[in-house]
Amino acid sequence: MEKKKIMSQEKPKIVCLPNGPYYLINSQEKKQVENLRNSEDEKYSNVIGIALCRCGASKNKPFCDGTHGVIGFKSERIEKSTDPKKRDYKGQKIIVHDNRAVCCHSKICVKTLSTVFDVNKRPWIDPDADNVEKLIEVVKKCPSGALSYTIEEKEYKDYDNKPMITVSKNGPYFVTGRIEIIGELFMDGVSKEHYALCRCGASKIKPFCDGMHAQIGFRDD
Ligand code: FES
Repeated sequence: MEKKKIMSQEKPKIVCLPNGPYYLINSQEKKQVENLRNSEDEKYSNVIGIALCRCGASKNKPFCDGTHGVIGFKSERIEKSTDPKKRDYKGQKIIVHDNRAVCCHSKICVKTLSTVFDVNKRPWIDPDADNVEKLIEVVKKCPSGALSYTIEEKEYKDYDNKPMITVSKNGPYFVTGRIEIIGELFMDGVSKEHYALCRCGASKIKPFCDGMHAQIGFRDD
């Protein structure tokens, strides 16, 4: 997926507005709103945020244009279970974990290390088929956090990425750097350091992406 980036100096927070957009707050500091005053001629101050589309229908993506109200977008999670669909693939030096429940089908793993990740083989992950360092590098690039790994009984699923929200081409928002998402339930055992947020409106595990954008042919043109 091609990417364009939304960058911030401070670590942002994300609020998922019910049946509405994501509200991205880049700074908790209240700022004066220059052109809004009360009857006493006093300026108002507020935390300023950016509304990002998550219904998939805005004509001004990635920003919200209010279309969620017109189409009756519902943000309720259909799949209530937070159980991970996790499988382990054991190699001699490393165990690769794959959580299908949150895979966003970015295909980074199969495109960059097809020796290890091959959907035409069973099992589809063979940790011994290539160099372990290369394998770790690819696992760390998995944007949804579906892939993680264990070496010497320690699981690695959180990394040192910068706080960033990346708008992927025809896919979800890739969130990195432990950006807090207010009041939302993560799947059990997944990384809160990096995850993928649905922006097509069709995921069953909202606000997280479950790969449905590929099935519905979501386009962000
Ligand atoms: S963007 Fe992936 S399911 Fe909606």
